[in-house]
Amino acid sequence: MTEFAVVTQGLTRRFGRLTAVDHLDLGVRAGELYGFLGPNGAGKSTTLRMLCGILEPSEGNGTVLGIDLRREPERVKSAIGYMSQKFSLYDDLTAEENLTFYARVYMVPRAERESRVAQMVRLADLVGQETKRAAFLSGGYRQRLALACAMVHRPRLVFLDEPTAGVDPVSRRNFWGLIRRLVEEGITVVVTTHYMDEAELCDTLGFIYQGRLIAQGTPAAIKSETFKKPVVEAETGDLRRALDLLGEWDAVEEALRAGTRLRVILADEGLTAEAVAGYLRARGVAVVWANEVEPSVEDLFVSFVDTERKARLREQLRAVSPHPAPLVPLTSSPLPGGERQGEGGEDRGEGRA
Ligand SMILES: Nc1ncnc2c1ncn2[C@@H]1O[C@H](COP(=O)(O)OP(=O)(O)OP(=O)(O)O)[C@@H](O)[C@H]1O
Ligand SMILES: [Mg+2]
Repeated sequence: MTEFAVVTQGLTRRFGRLTAVDHLDLGVRAGELYGFLGPNGAGKSTTLRMLCGILEPSEGNGTVLGIDLRREPERVKSAIGYMSQKFSLYDDLTAEENLTFYARVYMVPRAERESRVAQMVRLADLVGQETKRAAFLSGGYRQRLALACAMVHRPRLVFLDEPTAGVDPVSRRNFWGLIRRLVEEGITVVVTTHYMDEAELCDTLGFIYQGRLIAQGTPAAIKSETFKKPVVEAETGDLRRALDLLGEWDAVEEALRAGTRLRVILADEGLTAEAVAGYLRARGVAVVWANEVEPSVEDLFVSFVDTERKARLREQLRAVSPHPAPLVPLTSSPLPGGERQGEGGEDRGEGRA
């Protein structure tokens, strides 16, 4: 019924004198994959905890699946799924026991529990790992088990807080295949990440910086509407000198090394690749070629941040994602059980006794 799974107005959270989340107006459409991006300490986890009904906002309002955050946080908690930044698995319990535990917490009717747990084992590709204690599962399995636990009551909306941090690339790709499958089944997914390749896969992105939402929209819309700056790549004879020269030019917002190439973000909409090539050639640097290219999500993100923080932020993004391999979601297969979710407004308590 509701077109939006999450809507907030002026959502704010203070911790003493610190405003961790500062008047956020978010809109997450039902059925979409929403990527919530921001550097360390930007306020992502704090926002998610408020949206999950776990943390009380200091100011502002919001609804999650049509439920008022402030008035009915308990209802919000049971209607959504939440995978926290440090997965809350019980190490002494087996994979299956963890699922059963969460099925009880989320009040999955007793008669359905066993089959639901089995469905989740298949969904998260945990077959063969069911009786292993969580402590002994590998990182990729732990991560998928945590997602399965968050999904055990079949919520229509799930919040995933940095689910792939510190996980190897293959597990990361599998995990994104799983996220895609959930979205194709109509489940709304809100995911926080530092990985720019993951951000590229989202339907909508929200950038948060120092507690403030600085951009929100589809990656394409943000690129075309918010980010007007041309980006130029070039192959030059002397990369180091080219970087130095461009660094001194006011028309350049940023000049970076991208492998063996030069990547230049121009400050002025009117400038072209030709202008960059001309500038360098006039100063004795050979330019093999120079072309305008699409900005990356990383460019968008970094460009919102003040100049002195740019370099540090790029470093942080690189540190977590040194060689971003393209993440191609696996081909989809329907969720076990095949029940349709995410339609109508009447089934939001589904799965609870
Ligand atoms: N319970 C708390 N008490 C005091 N300060 C807090 C609390 N929780 C978070 N903060 C502060 O609020 C700010 C936002 O933190 P938050 O965890 O939301 O950031 P984040 O975007 O999730 O960062 P990360 O990428 O590192 O997970 C930080 O400055 C953090 O230190
Ligand atoms: Mg966090």
